[in-house]
Amino acid sequence: MAESQSQEDPRTQVEAASKAFEHEFERFARFTGQSAAVHGLTLDHAESEQRALAELRTRHLGKKSVLANCKKSIGRVATEGRAAFGQLVQSREAEIVSAIEQAETQLKDHIQSARTLRESIDVTLPGRRPRRGHLHPITLVRERLEDIFVALGYAIEDDREIETDFYNFDALNIPPNHPARASQDTFYTIEGLALRSQTSTVQIHAMQRRGAPVRMIAPGRVFRRDTPDPTHNPMFFQVEGLCVDRGITMAHLKGTVAELLRRMFGSKTVTRFRPSYFPFTEPSAEFDFSCFKCGGSGCRICKNSGWIELGGSGMVHPNVLRAAGVDSDEFSGFAFGFGIDRMVGLMYELDDIRLLFENDVRFLEQFD
Ligand code: DAH
Repeated sequence: MAESQSQEDPRTQVEAASKAFEHEFERFARFTGQSAAVHGLTLDHAESEQRALAELRTRHLGKKSVLANCKKSIGRVATEGRAAFGQLVQSREAEIVSAIEQAETQLKDHIQSARTLRESIDVTLPGRRPRRGHLHPITLVRERLEDIFVALGYAIEDDREIETDFYNFDALNIPPNHPARASQDTFYTIEGLALRSQTSTVQIHAMQRRGAPVRMIAPGRVFRRDTPDPTHNPMFFQVEGLCVDRGITMAHLKGTVAELLRRMFGSKTVTRFRPSYFPFTEPSAEFDFSCFKCGGSGCRICKNSGWIELGGSGMVHPNVLRAAGVDSDEFSGFAFGFGIDRMVGLMYELDDIRLLFENDVRFLEQFD
């Protein structure tokens, strides 16, 4: 082909090259001139047109282009026609360069502004509100309890959930073979440890760590081998309270529990103690409070009794004080414990406490 070209009239070759360019450039012609069509292009499309245009430039102006060949052949043209030929080549080349450059500029500008547009943010648009979570109802109630006790001068204790027999039973005055060890239906581990079945274990840790006097509450998880049903779950939350000092009596216990329940359920709340038995307290009492819903006249929540049973309490048994290294002649104390989830269930009128542990957002969302 080079052979046949070289034999052609060089002017014809230049004109042919120019024609070929015009033909190929047609699709880019719309990007030149005033009302350039470039504005309608997407960024992707404009970028691919830009690449195509660069290839077109190489084909028609590059080292191997017909025009470049023609330029090289200027010297071989007969002297009388050389100048005219040279001018022809130059003017055709200039036309091509100018056409390509116009289109290139338009495309480049368009791409630049399209990129800026894509990267820009409209700061006046309303923001997308991130979905905020909220605290679990058990946490909400636990925090209210903590606030009340902190205000009464109590420290908050947090302790281990896996315990040795000493903390689970021995130190709490539960002798070997005592029915409580079995009746509490504890989860044992193979190493002879057990998941605590009550937060009373923290009484011992707290007294060992802090000595006496001590005032603390310990909210936390406890575990029992119960079959889940609307009022039972094998894992639930309790809060333990302990106050040890010189001269602590049952009156302090009653005053403290009554105050707690008034702050929780309103100033009209009445508290009642019933004699009971726990190995770690002597004497022991269970406590009830007047129904916060009906005020004592009887309703669905209090099962028409007017009272709601909440927890156990008593004067810390001297054996428990001694087991934790506290002098039981010098010090006395009271302790109490109750279920947080049970309280949550009552307050929010849940008919199934298992809902608290199923992590169903449709349920949990209601406590925001
Ligand atoms: N630990 C008992 C339970 O789980 C509740 C309890 C009763 C705690 C009497 C006490 C207490 O501190 O003195 O049923």
